[in-house]
Amino acid sequence: MRVLSGIQPTGRFHWGNYFGAIRQYIDLQHDNEAYYFIANLHGLTTVRDGAVLWQNTMEAALDLLALGLDPNRATLFVQSDIPEVCELTWLLMTGTPLGLLERCHAFKEKKAKGLPADAGLFTYPVLMAADILAYDSQLVPVGEDQVQHIEVCRDLAGSFNFSFGEVFVLPQAKVMENAARVPGTDGEKMSKSYNNTIEIFEEPKSVRKKVMRMVTDSRPVEEPKIPETDPLFQLYSLFVGDQQREAMAARYRAGGFGYGEVKKALAEAAEGYFAEPRARRLELAAHPERVREILGDGAQRARAQAQRTLRRAQEACGVKGRS
Ligand code: ADP
Ligand code: TRP
Repeated sequence: MRVLSGIQPTGRFHWGNYFGAIRQYIDLQHDNEAYYFIANLHGLTTVRDGAVLWQNTMEAALDLLALGLDPNRATLFVQSDIPEVCELTWLLMTGTPLGLLERCHAFKEKKAKGLPADAGLFTYPVLMAADILAYDSQLVPVGEDQVQHIEVCRDLAGSFNFSFGEVFVLPQAKVMENAARVPGTDGEKMSKSYNNTIEIFEEPKSVRKKVMRMVTDSRPVEEPKIPETDPLFQLYSLFVGDQQREAMAARYRAGGFGYGEVKKALAEAAEGYFAEPRARRLELAAHPERVREILGDGAQRARAQAQRTLRRAQEACGVKGRS
């Protein structure tokens, strides 16, 4: 299967991004033809500082490579290196009903809050459709929040095909429902917007500090505790195997257990879990030319595919003569 997904460089990746998305991307590269890109053009709808956006983009590439995205298996590239996608966006935009975009959640929510929205945010789903269609992607692994955008993509592809012939492959969304909803340091969903994140490559000392400060319920030490509903336990479970998880659950239920114990165990487990990627990242960061080369190769491969698709679309709708 040809798998494609994009991730926005709007900040450093956190545990939620890893267990909710990145880990699945890395798994999928083994049995599929995988295309992954850093969605900097989408990122531009929120990050309005050029130096920051560029820095985030490079950090994102380092993070993904250090975490195991293998450039020999998957094609990794930066969205804006494929200008054909923007051209394709226009072709799709001409057949996009306004009502369809008005119903899309990012725009709708901003408008409901009375915040000013720009055309970039409004047409965001069309650019995303072009991202997907440019590479004849069959499967798009995404979080729940992006399913609506895949539906829009299928709608736009379908109506283009209806007008001009079979140009685009209709993709399927692969909702990462097994992906954990990773809680943040306040127990709510971990998210940049809630300021409750722990970054994947945050300094272990800082991770420990954040974990130790997490608020817990006020049951006295001797009282039995409930593991399943405790964010600390949920986080701990992400980093350890079944046996360790069960042992910790038993400690909760037995009583005579303070939350300090799971906090310490969590900080240690997380440090061990990311130790190898952390070392790989350090090494890679010392060789920025290697990262540039990987992104350059990825862009070249992705671009060849996007050029073919764009040509097909241009000829079909009559902005280029048939070759
Ligand atoms: P944020 O909420 O921090 O802005 P994004 O919306 O950029 O994160 O998410 C990028 C990817 O990571 C998406 O596929 C999303 O589903 C996943 N993701 C983000 N936060 C979590 C979380 N707390 N639990 C599970 N998956 C998450
Ligand atoms: N909009 C996606 C997000 O915020 C990122 C993205 C951009 C994407 N283009 C894509 C995801 C194409 C999948 C396919 O998470």
